Amino acid sequence: MAKNSEPEFFCPSISISMENPLIDAAIQVRENAHATFSNFKVGAAVEDDSGRIHTGCNVENATYGLTICAERVAIFKAISEGARTFTRVAVVADTDTLTPPCGACRQILWEFCGDVEIILANMAGKTETLRLATLFPRAFDASFL
Ligand code: THU
Repeated sequence: MAKNSEPEFFCPSISISMENPLIDAAIQVRENAHATFSNFKVGAAVEDDSGRIHTGCNVENATYGLTICAERVAIFKAISEGARTFTRVAVVADTDTLTPPCGACRQILWEFCGDVEIILANMAGKTETLRLATLFPRAFDASFL
């Protein structure tokens, strides 16, 4: 610690606050992204029905194909912690056009969250809220099995 007990390192991107705890959590976890290959950092945060926030960042791999997106990390972490019902999802990337979940993540989000509220945000404070069914119409899920 520095003499005045302030943190020695200050990262402006982490201090950005959108006054929305879910977006803030996604912004913070995005800093942990392991995006060695694409350099494209993504943060996701999922709120469960008890109000608990579960976070995830993308974790890339030298095979590329074993990369896992921020949204799936957040959901799988939440599931492994015992959460089962989700109310909102936030996805943050540093893009002017807001970054939506990829196709694989839409499937996973649909199966675990249903037609959940999705908040897209960027680092400049732009946000858009939509529902998953808009992004992922006519989904295949367990109801067909
Ligand atoms: N990525 C995510 O984590 N979430 C998205 O919604 C879009 C893409 C990641 C996967 C990969 O690490 C990088 O972004 C580039 O595709």
